[in-house]
Amino acid sequence: MRKPFIAGNWKMYKTAAQAVEFAEEFKKIYKASDVRVAIAAPFTQLWALKKAFEGTGIGVAAQNMHWEDQGAFTGEISAPMLKEIGVDYVIIGHSERREYFGETDETVNKKVLKALAEGILPILCCGESLAVREAGKEKEFVGGQIRADFAGVSAEDAKKVTVAYEPIWAIGTGKTATPDQAQEMCAYIRSVLEELYGDDISEEIAIQYGGSVKPANASELMSQDDIDGALVGGASLKPADFLEIVHF
Ligand code: PGA
Repeated sequence: MRKPFIAGNWKMYKTAAQAVEFAEEFKKIYKASDVRVAIAAPFTQLWALKKAFEGTGIGVAAQNMHWEDQGAFTGEISAPMLKEIGVDYVIIGHSERREYFGETDETVNKKVLKALAEGILPILCCGESLAVREAGKEKEFVGGQIRADFAGVSAEDAKKVTVAYEPIWAIGTGKTATPDQAQEMCAYIRSVLEELYGDDISEEIAIQYGGSVKPANASELMSQDDIDGALVGGASLKPADFLEIVHF
């Protein structure tokens, strides 16, 4: 009953012209199916990408946003600014933002609440570092992130959030979590959501796995009970690779 959801995360790659080139190529080979699809691109590409994907059903996502509507926050982009250009989703709390840009569960939570209030669907990232995993504390750590990041989110709104479980040690390293490891953590995340919102709501929330997802490993990961899709970094940059994952 949960529709698979595959989102590409381009990170800081491509110019607007290159984004449109990707979109034109992708549209030629893409066939709409039951799978929800979106591309998360840098801010400068969102407008052009939204236009290029018009009528395809392919969503467009920002990779970050601020929690205030406006103000003296040099270099930041607000939810109403994204809303104006029709952005569908926003990635919030990616581990790279937490690691390099000082994002905390507190700021992540503010952003989640703001995105929901503005009608932009959050893709909320969580995941443990290698050190946390080696200490056997991954559940405690990720459970803590989920509880803090969902603080104040109503049950009705919780259904609109996609959780992306991305173990940091698997991002961009070529070291994918095994399907069993990924399933175990996604099931655990769902159990925390069940504690917070009950069984019915937790069963509706989409949980993606992210971290070195490639055409070769996508279908095995996606066949796990609690994995409803993927957040794909490197392998989303080429239309043919991303398509193979979308058509897992
Ligand atoms: P990767 O990135 O697929 O390149 O490992 C995933 C992500 O950071 O979202």
